[in-house]
Amino acid sequence: MSLIEAEIMCGIIGVVQERGEVAPFLHQALKRLEYRGYDSVGVTTIANEHLYIKKEKGKIDEVHKKLNLDDLPGSIGIGHTRWATHGIPSMLNSHPHFDCNDEIAVVHNGVIDNFLELRSELSARGHVFNSDTDTEVIPHMIEEYMNEGMDLKAALRRVALRIEGTYAIVVMTTREPDKICAVRDGNPLVIGTQEGVHYISSDIPAFLPMTNNMVLLLDGEIASLSASGVQIEKLSDGSRVQRESIKVSWTADQAQKGGFPHFMLKEIHEQPEAIRNTLRLRRDSIVKATEIIQSADKVYMIAMGTSSHAAMAGRHMFGSLGGVLPICELASDFQDSVYDALSGDDCILAITQSGETTDTIAATKYAKHLGAKVIAVTNVVGSSITQSADHTIITQAGPEIGVAATKTFMVQLTALAQIALTLAESNRKMDRDIILRKREGLARLPEIVSEVITRNEERSRMLAGVFYDKPSFLFLGRGVSVATANEGALKLKEIAYNHAEGYSAGQSKHGPIALVQDGYPVVCVVPRDVTRNRMIGNIMEMKARGASIVSVVEKDDQEVSGLSDHVLEIPAGVESEFSPMPYVVPLQLFSYYVALRKGYDPDKPRNLAKSVTVL
Ligand code: G6P
Repeated sequence: MSLIEAEIMCGIIGVVQERGEVAPFLHQALKRLEYRGYDSVGVTTIANEHLYIKKEKGKIDEVHKKLNLDDLPGSIGIGHTRWATHGIPSMLNSHPHFDCNDEIAVVHNGVIDNFLELRSELSARGHVFNSDTDTEVIPHMIEEYMNEGMDLKAALRRVALRIEGTYAIVVMTTREPDKICAVRDGNPLVIGTQEGVHYISSDIPAFLPMTNNMVLLLDGEIASLSASGVQIEKLSDGSRVQRESIKVSWTADQAQKGGFPHFMLKEIHEQPEAIRNTLRLRRDSIVKATEIIQSADKVYMIAMGTSSHAAMAGRHMFGSLGGVLPICELASDFQDSVYDALSGDDCILAITQSGETTDTIAATKYAKHLGAKVIAVTNVVGSSITQSADHTIITQAGPEIGVAATKTFMVQLTALAQIALTLAESNRKMDRDIILRKREGLARLPEIVSEVITRNEERSRMLAGVFYDKPSFLFLGRGVSVATANEGALKLKEIAYNHAEGYSAGQSKHGPIALVQDGYPVVCVVPRDVTRNRMIGNIMEMKARGASIVSVVEKDDQEVSGLSDHVLEIPAGVESEFSPMPYVVPLQLFSYYVALRKGYDPDKPRNLAKSVTVL
């Protein structure tokens, strides 16, 4: 077994209240964190000067059935869902972790790079370790410092100054049974506040049914929570931080399934509303982004996963409408590719729904360090990316729980479209009437996407039945539709585990066509734009090799429909730059129904996490 354990994409919850038992709340809060992906779960409370502990490998429902997570006593507690990265999921490795006397309980997200050194120091001083985790050094270090006479907060501060790596740490101890302390550097933590109750969590939805008032905790800060209040201090010098609470507009209902069998399906259906809300973004915020872009020498777009497909589509929108063609890079490769090309005169658009993807944050920090301006497009208020951005645009999808992004992709495109149109208005190269038509086209998208869902839901389900057992798929598009094809393929891989490649149709002759034989599924994205005729050429080539063609096509496009074996139909009147928004929807639905047909849970794809906070 590896000694290098890291608790990275896990969920954290802590609560302290005046009276009443917290265990049922902790249990439900952990359920709300399930979407992060996890393989073990644990909760600890304090009552009668004792820690009460339940932890086990497995899903929350299974563990609850076995251990009953609701019957721990006490009005203060912490809980954790652990997603193992380097080591095995097991009871001993699951959090919370404890000191030698079971007086100090710790949950942690992140990685402690120097834990081996710390662990051998502690072992030499007689501490006994029960797990292989890096986390376990924390309670033992706190124990040492408290034995020297420090209180919990001072001991945690010492720990934070001693450990290297990234972390969100939440601790409590029977020696100060009315207090939770927390510290963060590089991993998210938010505080929820309510009269007589305080919460701390890695994610807002964990406490959303109880309160939508929150106080941000930033990197390099330490917090102390009691039932009556919250105190935040800077780690470096202990100075008090005064921070007002802010209201999140998300509702608890939005974080529930609301009658849908899965979050993913619910979130696909929420897309019209999500676009509508994001179209109401403040005009001055979009204008500010536009000004930063226009005064930059070079413009980069950086992102990962689905967000990188939003960047690809956004690049087309900016180029075609705004006369600015950004350089798109995966955030993970940004530093390795940009060399000396990046300067303080440039601007970075960092696109990340969670605002927590480590690659995107690292690339952003690198750009900032060189003096470049950073615009963040994110869906989460107060997320890490907002702390290093010069300007932030908060998209309005509401909480997205399904691991595979759907509505956050849609709102990223909605935000980028508004920036592209504002660029067009400001650089005056495009006829005003055309810009107006495009604006109206964007405003119609909530309705169009709604019609796309109605028109294609049953058809996607039926197609899933036809194709679910095909081992491999090609998704083709040209121009802006390469982004749509890539996103369609990614969705299928992510949740249904069929191999799928998104490709430029132009490039498909240079390799992928070799895969095609009788019945091989090729999904073609064919809006009625400048790429259509060349797409027809590609369809013919694929058909000639026996491919089974599924086209996503404008409703009355008889020619393309006639060449295809199956069609998914999009209403007419979509402006070409915005076509990924309606055209991706049937592909989301198709993947959802393939996953279902194969018996998989689309909300919790294997090996994937909602926010990837590891490099
Ligand atoms: C993970 C999620 C994807 C998401 C990607 C980037 O892989 O499963 O749905 O697209 O991270 O996340 P971000 O929060 O940066 O958009």
